Amino acid sequence: MSPAKPIPGISDQYRVVSDVIQRRRTWKVLTDPDNPLELPPDLCAKWDPVVRDAVAVSGWAPFHYARNHAGMTEPWRFHIVYSKPCRKLSRHIPEWFDDVKPNNKLPAMLAACGALVLVNWLPQFDEQQATEKQVQVNEEHLAATSAAVQNLLLLLTAAGLGTYWSSGGFFRDPLMAGKLRMDPAGKLIAAVFIDYMPNNPDPAIERIAGKHRMARNADLNWVREVVDLDEFATSS
Ligand SMILES: Cc1cc2nc3c(=O)[nH]c(=O)nc-3n(C[C@H](O)[C@H](O)[C@H](O)COP(=O)(O)O)c2cc1C
Repeated sequence: MSPAKPIPGISDQYRVVSDVIQRRRTWKVLTDPDNPLELPPDLCAKWDPVVRDAVAVSGWAPFHYARNHAGMTEPWRFHIVYSKPCRKLSRHIPEWFDDVKPNNKLPAMLAACGALVLVNWLPQFDEQQATEKQVQVNEEHLAATSAAVQNLLLLLTAAGLGTYWSSGGFFRDPLMAGKLRMDPAGKLIAAVFIDYMPNNPDPAIERIAGKHRMARNADLNWVREVVDLDEFATSS
């Protein structure tokens, strides 16, 4: 299968969405935690509400099963951490954890970001004792939450902001969940770092592209097309 080509007669909306999907890319943005990036207040006044709106819109992701936890149906929880608390976290993480390695990027990213969105999903059943059906329900809560995270990345890309989907490192620690008053039932699936100044030429800001970026299969050999029943292999 050859890579996607422009399709004649396709709607403008398709083209816009396709363009945003392909333009989304990771930039890890870092600066010296001892000299954190100061964001102009008008920049925060402009972009903080956009992040809030993008999170709200991301919640239109599909979800299969009502999670029904704490009076809410959705299987996800989003926590928006704005730049001021991010700068505080950048300073506190090395105090709260005694195993922060010198090359750990978390304090440096918290010193440079415009905002951070932490996304938890809520497992419904104990993984150790779950039936097959319960495992499926858990998996679909996670799948739905991942769809909501991708919505967020795409919306922020469309807004012109930089993004990086990280596993979260120390944010996965229960200590952090406590500090940020996150529901302890939640499991972190994404720490989305958001760059409010993707064109900032300041040499004190370091930008690192996402790994595997160039490892994607240009010939789409991960796609199988089934065009007729005859295509099915016979199994013995
Ligand atoms: C669930 C999930 C967790 C990830 N966690 C990390 C991470 O902790 N560190 C990292 O370098 N990349 C992580 N990545 C990968 C990057 O977000 C990025 O997508 C990847 O490097 C490919 O680059 P691109 O987004 O520019 O295509 C994660 C991706 C996913 C989907």
